[in-house]
Amino acid sequence: MCPAPQNPAAWSPDSWRDKVCVQQPVYRDTDRLQRVKGSLSELPPLVTSFEIERLRKLLAEAQQGKRFLLQGGDCAERVADCQSEPVAQRLKILLQMSLVLTHGLRVPVVRVGRFAGQYAKPRSRPTETRMVDGHNLTLPSYFGDLINRLEFSEEAREPNPDHMLECYYHSALTLNFVRAWVEGGFTDLRELDRWDLSFLTAAGLTPERRGEYQRMTQNLADGLSMVHSLGGVTAKDPSQAAVFSSHEGLHLDFEQALSRPVPGREGSYDLSTHFPWIGDRTRSLDGGHVEFFRGIRNPIAVKLGPSSTRQDVVELAKVLNPSDEPGRLTFITRLGADRVGDYLPTWIEAMGDRPVLWVCDPMHGNTSTTQSGYKTRSFEAIAQEFERTSAVHEACGSYLGGLHVEVTPDDVTECIGGTEGPDEATLRHRYQTACDPRLNYQQALELAFRLAHHVQDGR
Ligand code: PEP
Ligand code: CO
Repeated sequence: MCPAPQNPAAWSPDSWRDKVCVQQPVYRDTDRLQRVKGSLSELPPLVTSFEIERLRKLLAEAQQGKRFLLQGGDCAERVADCQSEPVAQRLKILLQMSLVLTHGLRVPVVRVGRFAGQYAKPRSRPTETRMVDGHNLTLPSYFGDLINRLEFSEEAREPNPDHMLECYYHSALTLNFVRAWVEGGFTDLRELDRWDLSFLTAAGLTPERRGEYQRMTQNLADGLSMVHSLGGVTAKDPSQAAVFSSHEGLHLDFEQALSRPVPGREGSYDLSTHFPWIGDRTRSLDGGHVEFFRGIRNPIAVKLGPSSTRQDVVELAKVLNPSDEPGRLTFITRLGADRVGDYLPTWIEAMGDRPVLWVCDPMHGNTSTTQSGYKTRSFEAIAQEFERTSAVHEACGSYLGGLHVEVTPDDVTECIGGTEGPDEATLRHRYQTACDPRLNYQQALELAFRLAHHVQDGR
């Protein structure tokens, strides 16, 4: 059982309210807000403390280099996508990536979806202006389905407390479906011919890479048939089969309403998700997010971008994990491929022997806007950020224990490159994201192959 926060008297479920809280919605109907919070706090939790404690153990093992974390899914999950096929497909891409990584890295992969609650988005601007009927119209930005709606109308963009209930129910439906799939043993994953691996024969792949990837595919096929003959992924060790949920813990009223003490355990758990993270925009040491999550028992991740100082890194570890509990703290670095070497070595050195799981998010530091106005990311920069991050960890005697990605199973054209991906001119063909550009199915699988091969090659 984990120890209580060092200064429990100073923390309460409400103590974040005395801090500066950025990126919080302002609701007009405050009575309705109170009623929704009341309902949420009485509804059953979405996850259990048993599952959370199981994940903490797996993350502690990942810190020691015995496992690797794959965390992935949409940038902004949509309520409208809570349907059987899209949910199954999102799970499938996560599992396929994890199988490629497991075979390449030769350690079990801990799978965590950016789903079943990834409904709140921090935004760089509070408002958005568009030309409507010849006039400039300024409305609140889209902050994710938990808060408002994407459609550009006054009504849709007004923060609505009822969206919290709607997202709660859709998270529950998603989790229910995911758990059923996990229980079923992922039966249709084992036949490699049902995977779309056409990028392996694409003209853009160099002959060397093609040869290496085809060898990996053969090993993977052999490995999967072995799993099959042993009776499936779920066979003996339930941690091998589990899929956990995660989301950015952004909306503090929502997170608080789903946090509660658990009988037989110390402290409060955030039961809206297994693994909340604090975003790069909300990780301020004196802000409400760090205050709230320091008193919550779940494992917690923090995104670290280039504005984080060495001091921030050390202080975040002290505040969020004062007793150096294994599995409690994850740092997700998201620097941009060209900046990894300027920041990461200092942070690793500053953390010394303190337990932390280092994860690379190669997406958020590599975002750019094309001349025609599309927000995009290059596949090459994404792969390079991971490769450079892995090289820095190796040089510093530390372990890169995870990958955090924004992916979709759909054939979208949002990120540029990969052997079959779009270029700048074709981005507009199927550009569908509600927020950040995601890797499509082919790009996601190709990335898994490339990173698995990179790690194998370095051994
Ligand atoms: C995100 O993960 O979608 C996000 C907003 O990331 P970051 O906090 O790293 O910018
Ligand atoms: Co994003």
